[in-house]
Amino acid sequence: MSATHHIPVIAIDGPTASGKGTVAHRVALHLGFHYLDSGALYRLTALSALRSGTELGDEHALAKLAAGLQCSFDGDKILLSHENVTDAIRAEEVGNTASRIAALPAVRQALYGLQLRFRMPPGLVADGRDMGTVIFPHAQLKVFLTASVEARAQRRYKQLIDKGFSANMHDLLKDLMERDARDANRAIAPLKPAEGAYLLDTSDMTADRAVEQVLRWYAVAKKHA
Ligand code: DC
Repeated sequence: MSATHHIPVIAIDGPTASGKGTVAHRVALHLGFHYLDSGALYRLTALSALRSGTELGDEHALAKLAAGLQCSFDGDKILLSHENVTDAIRAEEVGNTASRIAALPAVRQALYGLQLRFRMPPGLVADGRDMGTVIFPHAQLKVFLTASVEARAQRRYKQLIDKGFSANMHDLLKDLMERDARDANRAIAPLKPAEGAYLLDTSDMTADRAVEQVLRWYAVAKKHA
Protein backbone atom coordinates (compact mmCIF):
# COMPACT_ATOMS: atom_id res chain seq x y z
CA MET A 1 0.00 0.00 0.00
CA SER A 2 1.32 3.49 -0.82
CA ALA A 3 2.43 6.01 1.80
CA THR A 4 -0.41 8.30 0.76
CA HIS A 5 -3.29 5.81 0.92
CA HIS A 6 -4.67 7.46 4.08
CA ILE A 7 -5.06 10.86 2.36
CA PRO A 8 -8.70 11.23 1.27
CA VAL A 9 -9.51 11.55 -2.43
CA ILE A 10 -12.75 12.59 -4.07
CA ALA A 11 -12.77 11.44 -7.71
CA ILE A 12 -15.09 13.31 -10.05
CA ASP A 13 -15.31 11.94 -13.59
CA GLY A 14 -17.50 12.84 -16.50
CA PRO A 15 -17.68 13.95 -20.12
CA THR A 16 -16.34 17.20 -21.44
CA ALA A 17 -18.19 20.39 -20.39
CA SER A 18 -20.32 18.49 -17.85
CA GLY A 19 -19.44 21.09 -15.21
CA LYS A 20 -17.15 18.72 -13.31
CA GLY A 21 -14.29 21.25 -13.30
CA THR A 22 -16.37 23.94 -11.62
CA VAL A 23 -17.90 21.50 -9.15
CA ALA A 24 -14.60 19.80 -8.30
CA HIS A 25 -12.84 23.12 -7.83
CA ARG A 26 -15.54 24.45 -5.50
CA VAL A 27 -15.68 21.23 -3.47
CA ALA A 28 -11.90 21.44 -3.05
CA LEU A 29 -12.12 25.07 -1.91
CA HIS A 30 -14.89 24.22 0.55
CA LEU A 31 -12.93 21.36 2.13
CA GLY A 32 -9.54 23.08 1.90
CA PHE A 33 -8.33 20.18 -0.31
CA HIS A 34 -5.91 20.24 -3.22
CA TYR A 35 -7.35 20.12 -6.70
CA LEU A 36 -6.22 18.14 -9.73
CA ASP A 37 -7.56 19.10 -13.14
CA SER A 38 -6.22 16.03 -14.94
CA GLY A 39 -7.66 17.17 -18.28
CA ALA A 40 -5.30 20.15 -18.08
CA LEU A 41 -2.34 17.74 -18.20
CA TYR A 42 -3.63 16.21 -21.46
CA ARG A 43 -4.33 19.71 -22.77
CA LEU A 44 -0.81 20.88 -21.84
CA THR A 45 0.66 17.90 -23.66
CA ALA A 46 -1.55 18.70 -26.66
CA LEU A 47 -0.51 22.35 -26.66
CA SER A 48 3.17 21.38 -26.50
CA ALA A 49 2.65 18.95 -29.37
CA LEU A 50 0.85 21.51 -31.53
CA ARG A 51 3.49 24.16 -30.86
CA SER A 52 6.41 21.87 -31.52
CA GLY A 53 4.80 20.38 -34.62
CA THR A 54 5.01 16.87 -33.15
CA GLU A 55 3.29 14.30 -35.34
CA LEU A 56 0.02 13.26 -33.61
CA GLY A 57 0.64 9.66 -34.60
CA ASP A 58 4.08 9.55 -32.99
CA GLU A 59 3.19 7.94 -29.66
CA HIS A 60 6.77 7.77 -28.44
CA ALA A 61 7.47 11.48 -29.09
CA LEU A 62 4.17 12.49 -27.48
CA ALA A 63 4.87 10.39 -24.39
CA LYS A 64 8.27 12.08 -24.13
CA LEU A 65 6.57 15.49 -24.27
CA ALA A 66 4.12 14.40 -21.55
CA ALA A 67 6.88 13.04 -19.31
CA GLY A 68 8.90 16.24 -19.68
CA LEU A 69 6.07 18.74 -19.14
CA GLN A 70 7.38 21.77 -17.27
CA CYS A 71 4.07 22.82 -15.81
CA SER A 72 2.83 24.30 -12.57
CA PHE A 73 -0.51 25.23 -11.08
CA ASP A 74 -0.59 28.56 -9.31
CA GLY A 75 -4.08 29.12 -7.89
CA ASP A 76 -6.31 29.41 -10.95
CA LYS A 77 -3.33 29.93 -13.26
CA ILE A 78 -1.76 27.15 -15.32
CA LEU A 79 1.83 27.70 -16.37
CA LEU A 80 3.85 25.90 -19.03
CA SER A 81 7.55 26.68 -18.78
CA HIS A 82 6.57 29.82 -16.80
CA GLU A 83 4.18 31.01 -19.53
CA ASN A 84 0.57 31.56 -18.51
CA VAL A 85 -1.41 29.21 -20.79
CA THR A 86 -4.63 29.12 -18.71
CA ASP A 87 -6.76 30.37 -21.61
CA ALA A 88 -4.68 28.93 -24.47
CA ILE A 89 -5.29 25.33 -23.34
CA ARG A 90 -9.09 25.86 -23.42
CA ALA A 91 -9.16 26.43 -27.19
CA GLU A 92 -11.21 23.82 -29.06
CA GLU A 93 -8.26 22.72 -31.20
CA VAL A 94 -6.27 21.97 -28.04
CA GLY A 95 -9.20 20.07 -26.49
CA ASN A 96 -9.69 17.95 -29.58
CA THR A 97 -5.99 17.21 -29.83
CA ALA A 98 -5.96 16.33 -26.11
CA SER A 99 -8.77 13.86 -26.67
CA ARG A 100 -6.85 12.23 -29.54
CA ILE A 101 -3.54 11.87 -27.75
CA ALA A 102 -5.29 10.72 -24.55
CA ALA A 103 -6.11 7.49 -26.40
CA LEU A 104 -2.39 6.61 -26.55
CA PRO A 105 -1.30 4.24 -23.75
CA ALA A 106 2.26 5.64 -23.56
CA VAL A 107 0.92 9.18 -23.04
CA ARG A 108 -1.40 8.02 -20.24
CA GLN A 109 1.44 6.09 -18.64
CA ALA A 110 3.72 9.16 -18.82
CA LEU A 111 1.13 11.25 -16.93
CA TYR A 112 0.27 8.58 -14.35
CA GLY A 113 2.92 9.36 -11.71
CA LEU A 114 2.45 13.10 -12.08
CA GLN A 115 -1.24 12.72 -11.18
CA LEU A 116 -0.51 10.60 -8.10
CA ARG A 117 1.75 13.35 -6.76
CA PHE A 118 -1.24 15.65 -6.34
CA ARG A 119 -2.46 13.45 -3.46
CA MET A 120 -1.26 15.56 -0.56
CA PRO A 121 -2.68 16.28 2.92
CA PRO A 122 -5.30 17.20 3.89
CA GLY A 123 -6.94 15.72 0.78
CA LEU A 124 -7.50 15.88 -2.95
CA VAL A 125 -10.39 16.47 -5.31
CA ALA A 126 -9.44 15.09 -8.72
CA ASP A 127 -11.44 15.58 -11.89
CA GLY A 128 -11.12 13.81 -15.23
CA ARG A 129 -12.21 10.67 -17.05
CA ASP A 130 -10.42 7.90 -15.18
CA MET A 131 -9.89 9.30 -11.68
CA GLY A 132 -12.16 6.71 -10.05
CA THR A 133 -11.43 3.84 -12.43
CA VAL A 134 -7.63 3.97 -12.89
CA ILE A 135 -5.73 6.72 -11.07
CA PHE A 136 -7.45 6.66 -7.65
CA PRO A 137 -9.46 3.41 -7.63
CA HIS A 138 -9.64 3.50 -3.80
CA ALA A 139 -10.97 7.06 -3.61
CA GLN A 140 -13.22 7.65 -0.58
CA LEU A 141 -15.89 9.09 -2.84
CA LYS A 142 -16.44 8.63 -6.57
CA VAL A 143 -18.86 10.76 -8.54
CA PHE A 144 -19.81 10.45 -12.20
CA LEU A 145 -21.09 13.82 -13.30
CA THR A 146 -23.05 14.12 -16.53
CA ALA A 147 -25.33 16.50 -18.36
CA SER A 148 -27.18 16.28 -21.67
CA VAL A 149 -25.11 17.05 -24.75
CA GLU A 150 -27.26 20.16 -25.38
CA ALA A 151 -26.70 21.52 -21.87
CA ARG A 152 -22.97 20.89 -22.21
CA ALA A 153 -22.79 22.59 -25.61
CA GLN A 154 -24.56 25.64 -24.13
CA ARG A 155 -22.07 25.78 -21.27
CA ARG A 156 -19.08 25.37 -23.57
CA TYR A 157 -20.47 28.10 -25.85
CA LYS A 158 -20.77 30.52 -22.94
CA GLN A 159 -17.28 29.62 -21.63
CA LEU A 160 -15.68 30.24 -25.04
CA ILE A 161 -17.49 33.52 -25.65
CA ASP A 162 -16.61 34.73 -22.12
CA LYS A 163 -12.96 33.98 -22.84
CA GLY A 164 -13.08 35.96 -26.07
CA PHE A 165 -13.00 32.95 -28.45
CA SER A 166 -15.48 32.73 -31.30
CA ALA A 167 -17.91 29.79 -31.17
CA ASN A 168 -20.63 28.17 -33.24
CA MET A 169 -23.33 26.04 -31.57
CA HIS A 170 -23.64 23.57 -34.45
CA ASP A 171 -19.88 22.91 -34.56
CA LEU A 172 -19.73 22.65 -30.77
CA LEU A 173 -22.46 20.00 -30.64
CA LYS A 174 -20.71 18.00 -33.36
CA ASP A 175 -17.32 18.31 -31.61
CA LEU A 176 -18.77 17.28 -28.25
CA MET A 177 -20.43 14.20 -29.68
CA GLU A 178 -17.24 13.19 -31.50
CA ARG A 179 -15.16 13.73 -28.38
CA ASP A 180 -17.64 11.81 -26.18
CA ALA A 181 -17.49 8.88 -28.59
CA ARG A 182 -13.67 8.94 -28.67
CA ASP A 183 -13.30 9.25 -24.87
CA ALA A 184 -15.87 6.53 -24.18
CA ASN A 185 -14.81 4.03 -26.85
CA ARG A 186 -11.02 4.06 -26.55
CA ALA A 187 -9.35 0.83 -25.54
CA ILE A 188 -7.47 2.27 -22.56
CA ALA A 189 -9.09 3.99 -19.56
CA PRO A 190 -12.36 4.77 -21.37
CA LEU A 191 -14.80 7.22 -19.87
CA LYS A 192 -17.28 5.23 -17.77
CA PRO A 193 -18.64 5.38 -14.24
CA ALA A 194 -16.32 3.72 -11.72
CA GLU A 195 -17.67 0.88 -9.62
CA GLY A 196 -19.49 2.41 -6.68
CA ALA A 197 -19.68 5.88 -8.26
CA TYR A 198 -22.65 8.12 -7.49
CA LEU A 199 -24.29 9.45 -10.66
CA LEU A 200 -25.12 13.14 -10.81
CA ASP A 201 -26.95 14.61 -13.81
CA THR A 202 -26.48 18.38 -13.76
CA SER A 203 -28.48 19.24 -16.91
CA ASP A 204 -31.05 21.16 -14.85
CA MET A 205 -28.98 21.81 -11.77
CA THR A 206 -27.00 24.84 -10.69
CA ALA A 207 -23.33 24.39 -9.83
CA ASP A 208 -24.17 25.32 -6.21
CA ARG A 209 -26.64 22.44 -5.90
CA ALA A 210 -24.21 20.00 -7.46
CA VAL A 211 -21.51 21.10 -5.00
CA GLU A 212 -23.92 20.67 -2.06
CA GLN A 213 -24.79 17.16 -3.24
CA VAL A 214 -21.14 16.10 -3.54
CA LEU A 215 -20.40 17.52 -0.08
CA ARG A 216 -23.36 15.61 1.39
CA TRP A 217 -22.12 12.36 -0.18
CA TYR A 218 -18.63 13.04 1.11
CA ALA A 219 -19.90 13.64 4.65
CA VAL A 220 -21.55 10.20 4.53
CA ALA A 221 -18.49 8.52 2.96
CA LYS A 222 -16.25 10.01 5.66
CA LYS A 223 -18.41 8.55 8.41
CA HIS A 224 -18.08 5.07 6.91
CA ALA A 225 -14.34 5.34 6.18
O1 DC B 1 -11.68 17.49 -19.16
P1 DC B 1 -11.06 18.12 -20.40
O2 DC B 1 -12.08 18.46 -21.47
O3 DC B 1 -10.19 19.28 -20.06
O4 DC B 1 -10.10 16.98 -21.02
C1 DC B 1 -9.48 17.12 -22.27
C2 DC B 1 -9.26 15.74 -22.89
O5 DC B 1 -8.29 15.02 -22.12
C3 DC B 1 -10.48 14.85 -22.94
O6 DC B 1 -11.15 14.92 -24.19
C4 DC B 1 -9.98 13.47 -22.70
C5 DC B 1 -8.67 13.66 -22.02
N1 DC B 1 -8.67 13.25 -20.61
C6 DC B 1 -8.45 11.92 -20.34
O7 DC B 1 -8.35 11.11 -21.27
N2 DC B 1 -8.33 11.50 -19.05
C7 DC B 1 -8.46 12.36 -18.03
N3 DC B 1 -8.33 11.92 -16.78
C8 DC B 1 -8.71 13.73 -18.29
C9 DC B 1 -8.83 14.14 -19.60
